[in-house]
Amino acid sequence: MKTIRIGVAGAGYIAGYHHECVARVYGVRSEVVGVLDVVPERSRAFAEQRGVSAFRTIEEMLEHVDVVDVCTPPYAHKEVILQAAGAGKDIICEKPLMGYAPTMDDAESFRGNVAPKQPMLDEVLQGLEEIRRAVTASKSVFCYAENCIYAPPVQRERDLIDRSGAQILRMIGEESHKGNLAAYSSFWKYACGGSLISTGSHPLGVLLYLKRAEGQANGTGPICPLTVSARTHQLTGIPEYRDKGFLRCDYFDVEDYGWMHVTFDDGTVGDVVTGATVLGGTYDYIEVFANNHRSRCRINPTNLLDTYNPGDDGFKDIYLLEMTSTQEGWSNVAPDEYWTIGYQPEMQDFLECIYKRSKPQSDLDIAVDVTATIYSAYLSAERGGAEVHIYNAERSSSIDASI
Ligand SMILES: NC(=O)c1ccc[n+]([C@@H]2O[C@H](COP(=O)([O-])OP(=O)(O)OC[C@H]3O[C@@H](n4cnc5c(N)ncnc54)[C@H](O)[C@@H]3O)[C@@H](O)[C@H]2O)c1
Repeated sequence: MKTIRIGVAGAGYIAGYHHECVARVYGVRSEVVGVLDVVPERSRAFAEQRGVSAFRTIEEMLEHVDVVDVCTPPYAHKEVILQAAGAGKDIICEKPLMGYAPTMDDAESFRGNVAPKQPMLDEVLQGLEEIRRAVTASKSVFCYAENCIYAPPVQRERDLIDRSGAQILRMIGEESHKGNLAAYSSFWKYACGGSLISTGSHPLGVLLYLKRAEGQANGTGPICPLTVSARTHQLTGIPEYRDKGFLRCDYFDVEDYGWMHVTFDDGTVGDVVTGATVLGGTYDYIEVFANNHRSRCRINPTNLLDTYNPGDDGFKDIYLLEMTSTQEGWSNVAPDEYWTIGYQPEMQDFLECIYKRSKPQSDLDIAVDVTATIYSAYLSAERGGAEVHIYNAERSSSIDASI
């Protein structure tokens, strides 16, 4: 069996998770062979720490790899994907698939929170089509790194839906925390949005995955998002906000709270709550209300291990759980986040599918729908929450075909 060689673009926080999870993959020979970062010192540090090569350019990396793993901030995703697809490489891409970023000339004066959203949506929809065409032409296996889809409770819930023939009537999902760790996330020009895109994309991805899975299990075909109504707010930016030092509050032009109400083309609904104003560690769950059962998927915390620590110093420098402010008192300690939050099963599925040339559970269709839904949500929020129809290439072509 040939070893699958992976090149990572972007040597930051999530790249470390991907590197660790590739090492845990069984049954498929694969390795991260090198890394590329716009800041060469970051490539070098990552490469030295993990014993891989530091590439200087994307062209150099493309010569040495079979798979490009896109771990850059969102503004660069589309460009790296198109280069990788152009060279016939398979692709793993972190969430979100892409987003709207201003040109270099406009970047200085650009303010994403007040910039008109219809042109953003139009450009994003064009970009999604460009990506789809490039990936189809290159026959690349495209893996959308939405780890929450692979979290064990979500996969078990999918199994319950499959086997019981359930119809999901409504869902609610949330991912929130006390503020993003990445410095770039304050700026739309790098992050391509605020809470909706940086954290809301996680529960939204799961909701869209479960409805697609329901349709496939029932033989009706994927059930897709039809409309969205949304609100966004910058709660830590209101003049009355009193900063106690626990929440990040340096957002330049992005929201720190959002809500999306999605209707699906079978008339059922899903709600997503997301924000950067929640203390107590990352708060990440999905609730499913079906016609034959009700489920609560706890992604973070999982409550598998509760530990009481009488003094902060006792656990100094010991990692317990994402995004907590203190280690003192009771903590919901993560026993193994690579597994419980889905990163490890995600990489296992991706590399098996790349080997077998098949579609992963989290594929390009979900990635496209998540991005189109979120940018439609931004347009809705600009219109005070009015319902916006979500463009869907699969649906449009079936409408065209039926005319
Ligand atoms: N799945 C998850 O749970 C999760 C968690 C965090 C981040 N993410 C996603 O991962 C991606 C990266 O986030 P992060 O937190 O690791 O950010 P980060 O800031 O820690 O790392 C990003 C790295 O990319 C580099 N970079 C920027 N532009 C580049 C380009 N054009 N080419 C090559 N390198 C470039 C930066 O210098 C930086 O070192 C984002 O898309 C984010 O949404 C996912």
